[in-house]
Amino acid sequence: VDDDEAARLSIAQMLMLRGFTVESFSSAETTLAWPGLRDAACVVCDVKMPGLDGEEFLAEAKRRDPAAMVILITGHGDVPMAVRCLKAGAYDFVEKPFEDEVLLASVGRAVERAELQRESKELRRQLQLLPPIELGAFGMIGRSRLMQELWEQIEIAARSAAPVLIVGETGTGKELVARAIHGRSDRSGRPFVAVNAGGLPESMVESELFGHVRGAFTGADAKREGRLVTASGGTLLLDEVECISASAQVKLLRVLEDGEVYPLGTDRLRKVDVRLLATTKIDLKEQVRLDLMREDFFHRIMVLSITVPPLRQRREDIPLLTAHFLKSAAARNGIAVPEIPEETLSRLLQCDWPGNVRELRNSVERMVITARKGVAGPFTADQEGEGGRLISLPPSSGRLRDEMERTEKHVIEMALRESGGRLSTACLALGISRRALYERMKKYALKKEEYRD
Ligand SMILES: Nc1ncnc2c1ncn2[C@@H]1O[C@H](COP(=O)(O)OP(=O)(O)OP(=O)(O)O)[C@@H](O)[C@H]1O
Ligand SMILES: [Mg+2]
Repeated sequence: VDDDEAARLSIAQMLMLRGFTVESFSSAETTLAWPGLRDAACVVCDVKMPGLDGEEFLAEAKRRDPAAMVILITGHGDVPMAVRCLKAGAYDFVEKPFEDEVLLASVGRAVERAELQRESKELRRQLQLLPPIELGAFGMIGRSRLMQELWEQIEIAARSAAPVLIVGETGTGKELVARAIHGRSDRSGRPFVAVNAGGLPESMVESELFGHVRGAFTGADAKREGRLVTASGGTLLLDEVECISASAQVKLLRVLEDGEVYPLGTDRLRKVDVRLLATTKIDLKEQVRLDLMREDFFHRIMVLSITVPPLRQRREDIPLLTAHFLKSAAARNGIAVPEIPEETLSRLLQCDWPGNVRELRNSVERMVITARKGVAGPFTADQEGEGGRLISLPPSSGRLRDEMERTEKHVIEMALRESGGRLSTACLALGISRRALYERMKKYALKKEEYRD
């Protein structure tokens, strides 16, 4: 906003060259009358103008929206006025004459800040949208497209009796998915038994799964029923299936093919009818390639496979999950649901969540426990790995990655549209391999069918 046309045009042009979308006005009055003002991320306004001046514009803009971002261009040396403007809520002031870079830097910061404010406002709005949307019960919360697709896959798996491999990073909800498959299947009234192959010594896994007779090995003082027998008629969840030894793999194959279990130390078989679900965090194909997993076992357990997306690929679900965990943690601790400060909200949205939903749940629990006077405590990420390294990334890198992902998705969508959903053409246009394209389409939940012409 500047009454001096030459100045106005040159500032507008400079900002546009840097990729900002710019509207320019010759007076404060016309600016205030512009309906788009509400959505402007930032206003750059000259102070000395006929009619309403910059200070008056600032006052009115702030009255309409206390979060409005206004940068004032002030005359050289007018310190008292600059101070007044800042006190009145100006985001910044730039002294004339100024270097382009000085104004650009200020506008860049203001726009970023406005974006954050917008995000956390949205988050706050969504937090109030309680109760959160639960997908088909089973405590699974989320309404992102990826979660809806996950739910569809669960329904498909529930209708079948085939083994399902559930793949996903730690804390993404693999166990919830397994319980939902069982719960939606016709075995739902019967047992759901989980065995964690990674949490038990190799020798114990077999006796746990297949059971043993008394004296089968040193320490086997009493007979033990295998979990496969306990689960018979129902579903067995084999967690961290990559930890299953080769000999247990052979035995499991027999269970899957013929429904036969041989408890350790006896030839007397038990007939069982078990639906097997398995989870893994790693690429099992690689395990097969490295000879760590039998190929026949691998193919048998992944008749169906479901990938549970990491939280950072479905950030839209963060507000819902936060609201959900906030409520339940507050109830558990017997306090009222605390308020979350603006800054904490935007950090939750930007965090990369290496520990996924579990980490978000833990973080929210900590915020509730450390709440003071109805205000949630600070956000701290889980410490992961050796050395207790804090994984949470500085906000800027998360934002950059988001930006890059958005762009990547956009470019791929364009290629798909232009090729009418023909992947070979799209690969050529993008200059990437078919496999790379597949991976990205999966990541961004793009379906070639939607681009058919
Ligand atoms: N969509 C969701 N909605 C609500 N809670 C969820 C969701 N996904 C996961 N959780 C919660 O997060 C925690 C971790 O989930 P779960 O144990 O299913 O993850 P996992 O993938 O099996 O993890 P791990 O790989 O460490 O075994 C649980 O408390 C679970 O209830
Ligand atoms: Mg698990």
